[in-house]
Amino acid sequence: MKNSIAVELVERFSKPGELVVDPFAGAGTIPFEAASRGRRVLAADISPYARILSKAKLAAPRSLGAALSLAERALAEAGCFAKPDLREVPPWVRRFYHPDTLREVLNFASIRRRPGNQFLMACLHGILHHQRPGFLSYPSSHLVPYLRDRKISAPSQIKHRVSPARSRK
Ligand SMILES: C[S@@+](CC[C@H](N)C(=O)[O-])C[C@H]1O[C@@H](n2cnc3c(N)ncnc32)[C@H](O)[C@@H]1O
Repeated sequence: MKNSIAVELVERFSKPGELVVDPFAGAGTIPFEAASRGRRVLAADISPYARILSKAKLAAPRSLGAALSLAERALAEAGCFAKPDLREVPPWVRRFYHPDTLREVLNFASIRRRPGNQFLMACLHGILHHQRPGFLSYPSSHLVPYLRDRKISAPSQIKHRVSPARSRK
């Protein structure tokens, strides 16, 4: 849903202080715009991914600087973890990642309990998969779910990883 539509709906059908309920919140557009306009919010979704996105929008860091320092701290901490055993990852998932990238993603994602984690998790999800270089996995087919598209994805083409320390080299 476009944010402009959510804003129109929130302003037309509720007043500041009232409760806005979105039981199918998806990417959290309605909850975000409602909370931004002084409404109380109750949001739900059956998808864990959708719930991460809504929580991230409702509890985002207050500034870009705060978000970056949160990310830097999490990356530094994740960099100290032992390397995860990739044999525990389903083979069809492994096929989408360079092994080093997948280890870094898993370590970063394992930081779950710190405040702000939902925001970081949402950011991580946002860069996991796409067709262009800069995203963390090899491109997948638009037409066939879970099919890695080999025509445009030589492993050497995908250089971006989670760790900024590596990408600066
Ligand atoms: C069209 S999307 C909502 C989009 C949302 N308005 C937005 O701006 O992103 C519908 C959502 O309903 C969720 N959904 C479908 N069946 C559900 C159920 N039984 N209980 C809770 N959520 C459900 C889906 O996971 C999906 O995120």
